[in-house]
Amino acid sequence: LSQDSGVAPLVRFARLASEAGTGAAILPLLADALVTYLGADAVAILEIHEEGGATFVQSPHMPKELERLSVDPDLIGEELGRTLLTACGGRFARVRSRPLVCGGSLFGSVAMFFADEKAEGNASLAEGLVDIAAIALDNAAKLHRLARSHTELRRSQETLARAEKLRALGEMAAGVAHDLMNILNPLSLHLQLATRALDAGKTDDVKQSLGEMRQVLTRGVQNIQRLRDYSRQAPETRIDEMDLNRLVHEASEIARPRLASGGRGIRIKEELGAKRTVRGRSGEIVSALVNLIVNAADAMAKTGTTVTLRTGESDDASWVQVADDGPGMPPEVEARVFEPFFTTKGSDGTGLGLAMVYASMRRHGGSVRLETSPGQGACFTLSFPRSASEPPPA
Ligand SMILES: Nc1ncnc2c1ncn2[C@@H]1O[C@H](COP(=O)(O)OP(=O)(O)OP(=O)(O)O)[C@@H](O)[C@H]1O
Ligand SMILES: [Mg+2]
Repeated sequence: LSQDSGVAPLVRFARLASEAGTGAAILPLLADALVTYLGADAVAILEIHEEGGATFVQSPHMPKELERLSVDPDLIGEELGRTLLTACGGRFARVRSRPLVCGGSLFGSVAMFFADEKAEGNASLAEGLVDIAAIALDNAAKLHRLARSHTELRRSQETLARAEKLRALGEMAAGVAHDLMNILNPLSLHLQLATRALDAGKTDDVKQSLGEMRQVLTRGVQNIQRLRDYSRQAPETRIDEMDLNRLVHEASEIARPRLASGGRGIRIKEELGAKRTVRGRSGEIVSALVNLIVNAADAMAKTGTTVTLRTGESDDASWVQVADDGPGMPPEVEARVFEPFFTTKGSDGTGLGLAMVYASMRRHGGSVRLETSPGQGACFTLSFPRSASEPPPA
């Protein structure tokens, strides 16, 4: 290519510079282009660094005399050219210099040296090449900043996700601890019954109490497994063919000691009409039912009251109901009962019971409905739609 072959060198250099990507790769290419297309005998490029200071870009076209020279980064334009020309000790007759400026940023300066007094290259080609290099440097810097902020963003997203996971794990732990208390509390009562029966020599009663204790323990272990599965982030896999009537029965056995405690004498009535089985995690559903029964007992301070447990089914769903004839709830309580940590029991309640029930039913693709009004008791219905035969992973 001749010195003034029009725009071809510019186009060619623009492509090379934009493909080079980083500032360190662009500037040696600029030196090459100025020698090749402009006919400069030597080229010195002073690069100004973001963190301060300026250094010469290494290239075969750099005058050796300048290698050990340190230059004030504020020196630009003709003044810089003259300083460098002098430093070369008369080897060159002329110098042309131009700053590398784009988008309000100064990236450095370029000095082109000519040995011949009359040669000074095509001025507009020189300006064009230097400006294209400056544009490429500006793009590279922007890209670098973008990549950096993208990395920072990703890092803070990861931190956030970790914190969120921990928070959820904490909530889950509180919930499981709550369910465990509900399930394990009856153990000490059964233990007392067994001891008493042993003293009285009633072996059958001892056996029955031991049987109850074994069941309670199994549920407790399942609860702990739930927490472990959750902390591993593995979906809880064990899905049973649940007989709702049997689960109701199991839950009432677990809750029974609580209903009797404090001489409350609350009755449990079972009206079990469900015939189909439902697929789900029986441990979770028993916990949900125990929660509902314990809540009903807590609400009914008077003796002689009843908790009714019903099961049944329609064409498209199976359901379980826990109904009490206690005081019911005013609308402002009814509206908030499923919120985590909402309780009217002060420090005696965690407010997690119904939140756990709600979450369990969601995980089963089902729902929980509450019907209540003041003085009319409360009735909770858990529905398992037939279509959700396979509950989604936890
Ligand atoms: N059967 C019910 N009758 C009247 N109020 C109820 C009944 N069940 C729940 N509630 C109200 O809903 C609130 C929230 O219940 P939830 O089970 O979530 O927490 P809690 O029972 O207060 O605490 P915890 O479950 O830790 O003992 C209760 O504090 C109570 O006011
Ligand atoms: Mg509760």
